[in-house]
Amino acid sequence: MNIAVVGTGYVGLVGGTCFAEMGNQVICVDIDESKVAKLQSGTVTIYEPGLEVYFDRGIRENRLSFTTDLAEALEPADVVFLALPTPPAEDGSADLQYVLGVADDIGKLLAANPDWGYKVLVDKSTVPVGTARRVIEAVEAHGLKAGEHFDVVSNPEFLREGVAVEDFMKPERVVIGTDSERAGEIMTRLYEPFVRSGNPIIVMDEESAEMTKYAANSLLATKITFMNEIANLCDLVGADVDKVRRGIGTDSRIGSKFLYAGIGFGGSCFPKDVQALHRTAREEGYEFRMLQAVLDVNDDQKTVLVPRITAALGGEDLTGKTIGIWGLAFKPHTDDVREAPAHVVIRELVARGASVQAFDPEAVETTQAAFEHTPLEGPGSLTYSESAYAAASGADALVVATEWPEFRRPDLDRVRESMKQPLVFDGRNVFDSKRMAELGFTYSSIGRPSYEAATVERGATA
Ligand SMILES: NC(=O)c1ccc[n+]([C@@H]2O[C@H](COP(=O)([O-])OP(=O)(O)OC[C@H]3O[C@@H](n4cnc5c(N)ncnc54)[C@H](O)[C@@H]3O)[C@@H](O)[C@H]2O)c1
Repeated sequence: MNIAVVGTGYVGLVGGTCFAEMGNQVICVDIDESKVAKLQSGTVTIYEPGLEVYFDRGIRENRLSFTTDLAEALEPADVVFLALPTPPAEDGSADLQYVLGVADDIGKLLAANPDWGYKVLVDKSTVPVGTARRVIEAVEAHGLKAGEHFDVVSNPEFLREGVAVEDFMKPERVVIGTDSERAGEIMTRLYEPFVRSGNPIIVMDEESAEMTKYAANSLLATKITFMNEIANLCDLVGADVDKVRRGIGTDSRIGSKFLYAGIGFGGSCFPKDVQALHRTAREEGYEFRMLQAVLDVNDDQKTVLVPRITAALGGEDLTGKTIGIWGLAFKPHTDDVREAPAHVVIRELVARGASVQAFDPEAVETTQAAFEHTPLEGPGSLTYSESAYAAASGADALVVATEWPEFRRPDLDRVRESMKQPLVFDGRNVFDSKRMAELGFTYSSIGRPSYEAATVERGATA
């Protein structure tokens, strides 16, 4: 099949590359000229495990190409994916300017080139209920007719950054929202090779497909947030959230995933999608109170370690204190730092005068770009370290903000010996509390008992 993908970010690049891997002919379009130039020269522009192999093969075998010219991609395409940003507008609703702008451009091009034939236009972006209808209107405004010249399908994407390639190649389900039999058949044919193990392709109306994506992300964000509140309460009553997690996660009605407490969720999806669903509800005159609570709790959760750090380091003013940060990405295995809790912690520390030294295996460049866009404020500073050990070296305290695998089993004796004070604040519960105390750290984590350094004898838990 001939495919155009408009928007070559995390979703567009992964989707386009995976469609090409499945033998389709794919042209990806982006307005970002420097991104397209890099892709054309054979450089993958995001960090996503497994992507490079398929990307290289797609290019080598001439199934995958990149352009800034929408017309070039649109002309041969049977199916056109819109994988465009839908960032939060000021009121929290999804900003549809990119999606509707491209729909308008496509309408213009199709009207001027009637010989290009019927196209299926696919909303891959996460968009509020009613967007498929608005895309139809934007294209029909150019004298075209849905059902005849084109159809619009809502096909929400459920990939997780960090395992995006695997998720795209073997989705647990594919949701196709359309009332058009013709478009539904084309989409089913396109996706069949991805669900050969029997996972379902679920066809439904556009509105339900659009709602499915928001419902999924909001429920997952709620699950994490619920666990974070349980953790906060565990801290107060002396329970251990890890044990509670195991205790409830074995209940098949609850399930074991998304029960890990930490310093809040981030990323480009959960925060904005929860906000957008809350906003949609409000526009309909319905106050979705649970979602507001999720957003409020998550905001607070990102800074839950800050008062502990200031208390341990002698007060609000952190001038002269060095703090190491392990992890900048919003989660491991990605370079995406959008809404990353680590960034919020860094902002708070720099505002209080701390010298922050941070390390992340993949997300330094994206962090630099983010802080260039929205500079840090305050008397403190941020520098980037070459390694996890370098970030801990000379530090008065170390904060674990992202659970990259390499942070799980470092040489902790080396870490302690290099630090000014053996103080660790673990925002992702990667270490065992007692073991850390045995090793001589004063260790604080989320929802688990803390132990003072050396109050537990070395070897006590061996
Ligand atoms: N990132 C994820 O994990 C994920 C998962 C599921 C769904 N989604 C949804 O998918 C959509 C895209 O997300 P993303 O993370 O890939 O965004 P992104 O910001 O990484 O990529 C969007 C791309 O679109 C390009 N673009 C903007 N305007 C354009 C135009 N007029 N023509 C061509 N290209 C244009 C940008 O330059 C950018 O490269 C969003 O709605 C998001 O909510 C994202």
